[in-house]
Amino acid sequence: MSNGEKLGRIFSGVQPTGNLHLGNYLGAIRNWVNYQSSYESIFCVVDLHAITVPQDPAALRQSTREVAASLIASGIDINESILFNQSQVSCHAELSWIFNCVARLGWLNRMTQFKEKAGKNRENATVGLYGYPVLMAADILAYKATLVPVGEDQKQHLELTRDIATAFNSMFDVECFPLPEPKIETTAARVMSLRDGSSKMSKSAESDMTRINLTDDTDLIAQKIKKAKSDADVLPSELEGLEGRPEARNLVGIFAGLSGRSQEDVLSEFAGQGFGAFKPALAELATEVISPISAEMRRLLNDVAEIDNQLAKGALRASAIAEPILDEVKEIVGFVK
Ligand code: TRP
Repeated sequence: MSNGEKLGRIFSGVQPTGNLHLGNYLGAIRNWVNYQSSYESIFCVVDLHAITVPQDPAALRQSTREVAASLIASGIDINESILFNQSQVSCHAELSWIFNCVARLGWLNRMTQFKEKAGKNRENATVGLYGYPVLMAADILAYKATLVPVGEDQKQHLELTRDIATAFNSMFDVECFPLPEPKIETTAARVMSLRDGSSKMSKSAESDMTRINLTDDTDLIAQKIKKAKSDADVLPSELEGLEGRPEARNLVGIFAGLSGRSQEDVLSEFAGQGFGAFKPALAELATEVISPISAEMRRLLNDVAEIDNQLAKGALRASAIAEPILDEVKEIVGFVK
């Protein structure tokens, strides 16, 4: 599909924090890969957002490259889509400042993610953490993107983005910014910990056995699935039979996600079988999907200069879109050029 035929412009961001795992893949990355052919897609590794909390500089650089490599390895096509890291496109920071002068304290005070991240010691949180959602609005609106694939937890930030766009437009009596819509994939599997079916698979969980990282090799994936918590019952033939069985539900959900089949369909195949039969099938499927990604990631990470080169190219393409929009905004605001 050429750009002229695409259905709109997508923008999404991902934090450069450590290893991505199966939850990130099934919940977000795989959808991004699928959107590329129908939407003009811009994907950003948000290193400016990352420093709203303390980061080790070497680790930040490494994570930025790792996340970029995992997106490319998962199928983000850097020729078709734009992939870059945020700090290389200065429009984000500049537009964010202008939006700081549009957004109201009252709006930011309602942001639940700030309250969670700042915790009890709010006085000690950085001003950057407070302004995090304003920068996110700048990310999206710097490209006049209209669709933003995000998880449920980012919905409130998207609403703030719309509020900022609306306020800017009315403050200056212009129709500069469109109102972007969240694109929340309801079919995406919510992937839970392999050790506790009631908590989300997470990169911060202490035990590595709770998650499948995109860098795990075949043996490790198989071992993690073998040791995953399950139960002693057989699989039911209907979804209702998974109620009250969070671990069983999670493993079935992962199978469905990885195979692109519905959970009902997976159950119809495995009904009556126990985990002794289901787990090896799941391990085989998981390694089939994840191993090529992890192998490609390792290959890419062997050549850091090439990743950096691709990110720099992406940044140039991103700037080519964002700069004229920022120019338009500066003109509206009344800055001398
Ligand atoms: N806040 C998002 C997250 O933590 C990441 C992000 C930053 C983002 N800027 C964005 C997502 C712009 C979508 C659009 O997941």
